[in-house]
Amino acid sequence: MRANVQTPPLRILEIGAGDGKFMLTVARMMARRWPDVEIVMVDRIGLIGKDLCDSFAEFGWRAQPVTADIFDWAGDRPFDLVCANLILHHFDDTRLLELFSRIMTMAPVLVATEPLRAKVPLVATRFLRLIGACAVTLNDATQSVRAGFRGTELSQLWQLSGGTPVIEARKGLFTQGFVGASMPGTR
Ligand SMILES: C[S@@+](CC[C@H](N)C(=O)[O-])C[C@H]1O[C@@H](n2cnc3c(N)ncnc32)[C@H](O)[C@@H]1O
Repeated sequence: MRANVQTPPLRILEIGAGDGKFMLTVARMMARRWPDVEIVMVDRIGLIGKDLCDSFAEFGWRAQPVTADIFDWAGDRPFDLVCANLILHHFDDTRLLELFSRIMTMAPVLVATEPLRAKVPLVATRFLRLIGACAVTLNDATQSVRAGFRGTELSQLWQLSGGTPVIEARKGLFTQGFVGASMPGTR
């Protein structure tokens, strides 16, 4: 986000926000640079409570959790940025094309981090057992890596949806990072 979002965003949408803790970490890291943010966190399961929203307020960010399916929900105003962490791999290519088209109507930029589909992450899931992960977590981790991305897969889908890929690259051992612009020159 530091490298690819030049103008401090005022409104951010996070899709598949889960319990919101990931975005809270992002807020902690970015708040000095991006001091005035309204963050809307959509997830089909409502896990985000008042305590977490109050934690965002400590950084000057105003958090608004929304319980909805991202395919059914359309905000009433545009956003400056859409963030996705570990949600895109839940969908097949047809659904991703649909989702990307929706995102492009909502904001000029998508920043996404997803599982890297590669040997090292797949082997690494086996070691989760050593830190006490249960069978469900182990299975989830393996399936997530298998459903992950590599190369320019996200870029190709983004382009097919009418957008302009900005960057797609492996980040560390386990992550595929992607930035896409909705229109040429918008980021
Ligand atoms: C692996 S979790 C990641 C949560 C969070 N982004 C994080 O990094 O901690 C994926 C989340 O996507 C949500 N999700 C999956 N499909 C969704 C949909 N169609 N609409 C909204 N949320 C969805 C799930 O409920 C889940 O909370």
